[in-house]
Amino acid sequence: MFDINKIRTDFPILNRKVHGKPLVYLDNGATSQTPQVVIDAIVDYYTGYNANIHRGVHTLSQEATDKYEEARIKIQKHFNAKQSYEIILTSGTTHSINIVASGFGAILKEGDEIIVSALEHHSNIVPWQMLCEKTGAVLKVIPMNEDGSLQMGMYHELLNNKTKLVFCNHVSNALGVINPVEEIIHAAHKFGAYVLIDGAQACPHIKPDVQELDVDFYVASAHKMCGPTGVGMLYGKEELLNMLPPYQGGGEMIETVTFEKTTYAGLPHKFEAGTPNICGGIAFGVAVDYMNEVGFDAIATQEDKLLAYATNELEKIEGLKIYGTSRKTSVISFNLEGIHPYDIGAILDKLGIAVRTGHHCAQPIMDFFCIPGTVRASFTFYNTLEEVDALVAAVKKAKMMLS
Ligand code: ALA
Repeated sequence: MFDINKIRTDFPILNRKVHGKPLVYLDNGATSQTPQVVIDAIVDYYTGYNANIHRGVHTLSQEATDKYEEARIKIQKHFNAKQSYEIILTSGTTHSINIVASGFGAILKEGDEIIVSALEHHSNIVPWQMLCEKTGAVLKVIPMNEDGSLQMGMYHELLNNKTKLVFCNHVSNALGVINPVEEIIHAAHKFGAYVLIDGAQACPHIKPDVQELDVDFYVASAHKMCGPTGVGMLYGKEELLNMLPPYQGGGEMIETVTFEKTTYAGLPHKFEAGTPNICGGIAFGVAVDYMNEVGFDAIATQEDKLLAYATNELEKIEGLKIYGTSRKTSVISFNLEGIHPYDIGAILDKLGIAVRTGHHCAQPIMDFFCIPGTVRASFTFYNTLEEVDALVAAVKKAKMMLS
C-alpha cells in the first residue's frame, strides 16, 4: 500500500521551511531528497566501519569491503546485469560517459560516425565532440519534433555501415520526454553500432532491465534515486568493458606493476582507480533497496497522477506554454509569455517552492524552441496534489507581479 503521509516522514528535509513557508521541493530532476534510511547508512559508515576497501586485512577494511561489494550486487540485481563486475561504480553519470568516450578514443578512426539525439544533456554531447576531435569521427544528430519527441524516421536514415556508436538519453532532463530506446538500440545493432543510454533522468521513475534492452552501456547517478551525490554507475556488457582501455591509471586498477610494464586488473577494478566513494557506494545500494521497497509501480502511479493534475491546472493559466508534450515522466518545463524564467523561479523560491530555471544543461533544446530557458518543475513520488496547488497559485502570483 502506497501511503504518501508515511512516505513523506521518511524524508526529514520535507519538514523544513524556506523563507518562512513550508518547503515544496519540485527540483527532483536536479537531485532527489534523501530518506532517513540512506542518511543512517552514511552515519553508520563513518561512526562504525570507516576504512579503505580491497586493501586491508583488518576487520574494519573487511567490513567496508563486504558492504561495498554487497552494494554492487544490489545495483546489479536492480538493473538486471548478468554479472556484478559489469557494474562499474563511478562518481556519477558524467564520469561514466567519459569512461566510455575516452575508451573509444583508442578504437574509432577517421570517418567513423557517431549519432546523438537532439535531446541530450551537455554531458552526453561534449564528451563525444571531444572524441570526434581526437579521432576524426563525425557527429550526427537525430532531430527533434515540436512536441519534444525524436524524429525517428531521420534516425533510421542516419544509420549506416559507418555508424559505430549511438548515444541517447532514456528520458530528457529538460523536458521529461521518454525516448524509444528499445527501437534505438535494436536499429543500431543491425549496423553493428554500440549504444550507450543515459539513464540519469529515467532511473528515478523507471526500472530498466539492461539484458532485456540488450543495451551495450547504461549509465546513472545515485543522487537522482534517493542516494547521495558523488556516486553513480556504468553498466557495460562484459566483452565491451574488456575491450575498452582503462580510463585512469592508479592504485587498485592493476594486476602487476614494474617500471617496464604494468598489467591491468580484471573487471570491475580496471575502471576503478584510486580510493572510491566508499560510503557513497554503500548508500547507493541502500537507496536502490529503498526505491524498490516503495515500488516502481506505485512510484509511476503517484507520478502520473501528479503530472496529469499539474498539466491540467497549469494549462489553465493564460500565456503559459509547456515544452515537451509527448509521452513523458513527471516533469513540466514551461514559460510565461514575456517573462524571463529566472524571475519566476526567484518569486517561487520566496514562496518556498524549489524549481530549476535556465537551460538545464541542454542548450540545443532551448535553441530549438528559440528561448533562453524554461522553468522546470520535476515531481517525484513524495510530492502531493496540495504541492501542485501551491505551485499553480505561486505561478499565478508571479504572473501578476511580473506582468
Ligand atoms: N542534470 C541535472 C538537471 O537536469 C542537474 O537538473
